[in-house]
Amino acid sequence: MTQIIAIANQKGGVGKTTTALNLGAVLAQRQQRVLLIDLDPQASLTALLGLDPRTVERSSYSLLMYPEITLTRVVRRLGANLALVPGSVDLDAAAIQIVEQEISLHRLRKVLRESRLTFDIILIDTPPGLNVLTISALLAADSVLIPSQCSLLAISGIRAVQDAASRIRSKMGHPGLRLRGVLATFYDAASAQSPHVLAELRALLPEQVFQTVIPYDVQVTDASHSGKAVVDYAPDSSASLAYLALVGELLDEESTTIGQ
Ligand SMILES: Nc1ncnc2c1ncn2[C@@H]1O[C@H](COP(=O)(O)OP(=O)(O)OP(=O)(O)O)[C@@H](O)[C@H]1O
Ligand SMILES: [Mg+2]
Repeated sequence: MTQIIAIANQKGGVGKTTTALNLGAVLAQRQQRVLLIDLDPQASLTALLGLDPRTVERSSYSLLMYPEITLTRVVRRLGANLALVPGSVDLDAAAIQIVEQEISLHRLRKVLRESRLTFDIILIDTPPGLNVLTISALLAADSVLIPSQCSLLAISGIRAVQDAASRIRSKMGHPGLRLRGVLATFYDAASAQSPHVLAELRALLPEQVFQTVIPYDVQVTDASHSGKAVVDYAPDSSASLAYLALVGELLDEESTTIGQ
């Protein structure tokens, strides 16, 4: 069965897009059929994957705005196991039009459920904040993964997603939405702050923080300047090894859940 994971945090610059890109790349290498969906008007994921969000013809905007469109029409194949629904700059307008025209926030969910395309995992990259685009992603997802920097202000961004998820479960007809986990990012073992904040996160959210932490690693930025995922650009870098470990954690958890 396809599992759909939204990657979200109310805070910006916490590693959402980097996580979507690298998880997607590693999962595809592990023979999982992966679909990435870019729901961010900044469309950095789309740009990193080599498409121009200003000129892309059919995008996640089309999925949100046109009820008759199918997933097949907007999906771009990027590799044997990797596909993308690109984001586009007009997603900014979508956020307003959805509210103005009272368009259903359940459209993305519907189109993904009705699609005949078969994917093992769908990862949805969302914009910072908790606007209608993020809510559409959470409504479409089975679970939410929250990347979070190891800084003292991080907890409020996590709480905001948890609160939104809780309202979506109780008031918006999606009781099954679960927290897939909080992913500590930009971890710097040499700093005083990172280990302290990580310990605090683990204490506040027992069992909900992934064992894997993503270290601060300059190779991630170097990779993005070369238009690549760090797992492809520098496979032995500390960030790459962490993303590999994270995929191990996700797939192990999956097989345990299925085995139960
Ligand atoms: N582990 C890391 N080490 C060093 N730099 C990183 C790491 N993860 C991400 N970055 C860099 O930090 C910046 C922000 O990361 P990213 O775009 O993934 O965050 P985001 O949460 O998607 O941001 P936004 O909220 O704007 O969408 C990017 O320039 C990225 O290359
Ligand atoms: Mg992003």
